[in-house]
Amino acid sequence: MEYNIKRHLDEIASFSTTKPDELEQFRIKYLGKNGILNTFFEEFKAQAPQQKQVLGKLLNSLKQAASEKYNTLKNELDALGQQEIKPLDLTLNATNGAYGARHPMSIIRQEIIEIFSRLGFTVTDGPEIEDDWHNFTALNFQPDHPAREMQDTFFIEQNPDIVLRTHTSSVQVRLMQNQQPPLRVLMPGRVYRNEAISARAHCFFNQVEGLYIDKNVSFADLKQTLLYFSKEMFGADTKIRLRPSYFPFTEPSAEMDISCSLCGGKGCPMCKKTGWVEILGCGMVDPNVLENCHIDSKVYTGYAFGMGIERITNLKYAVKDLRLFSENDIRFLKQFENNI
Ligand code: PHE
Repeated sequence: MEYNIKRHLDEIASFSTTKPDELEQFRIKYLGKNGILNTFFEEFKAQAPQQKQVLGKLLNSLKQAASEKYNTLKNELDALGQQEIKPLDLTLNATNGAYGARHPMSIIRQEIIEIFSRLGFTVTDGPEIEDDWHNFTALNFQPDHPAREMQDTFFIEQNPDIVLRTHTSSVQVRLMQNQQPPLRVLMPGRVYRNEAISARAHCFFNQVEGLYIDKNVSFADLKQTLLYFSKEMFGADTKIRLRPSYFPFTEPSAEMDISCSLCGGKGCPMCKKTGWVEILGCGMVDPNVLENCHIDSKVYTGYAFGMGIERITNLKYAVKDLRLFSENDIRFLKQFENNI
């Protein structure tokens, strides 16, 4: 009997199953009314007292081992069974995962591109790391032009001929070098200026450049194109005004204001009570620039304009701090989820 108990202890220890009927067999075999344990306990009664001490302990450990094993396996099977029984309910609401949204600047950049593409403009880009020639010289900047100075431009230390482009006008040059007119192209991209970062200025920002070169392009074409853009972007009531200005690469040059989109021109903090906000620089491409890029300035004329995307986005969404655009604060970005 002693030997048999030890053998059963081993058997119990190594027993395992995931099938309910096998577990039931196990229960009947050890713990059932006519099971091994009850049989042993019957035999136990007939043992001599000195044997009972040893056998009693062994029998109790056998009973404990069998019950523990049974209970453990039963719990495991019950848990498994519950999973299996619970059917997959395909009518339940889906758990919505977190989804992304477009950045406000991407939304506005796309809107600008869409408006101009209706007028036949295509899109291209160029490198952010430029050489002095494309960023300045070809665009008619004189060697001592203040824009080349250290406070505006990021130069590469080892080679001051290489700069981070300060405007997307450098892409105009690359385009005109590679393609003869007619050209009607938009050039969005990031630009860099060595400025202290604040709510109103950043060391990098985004521009969209526009260039139209063909025979007989006039300032009137430029003005009408910009008026169309402004009305499409800010609403049909929007007015524009062009103020004379200076850029080395355009002649004549102008800065364009739109009637304040926030107060409709009545005057508010956004337009500093003037009713107007400046949104872009523009002008007729200087013949020197055309010649620098091997385009015959006696045959072709053209206009160019450049606007800051942050500026346009500010006007559309009244974002007061430029830094929000590049900090990726989810609380800020979440507000634009519905504009996908
Ligand atoms: N490049 C000018 C700027 O960054 C903008 C501009 C572009 C002006 C094209 C005229 C024509 O301020």
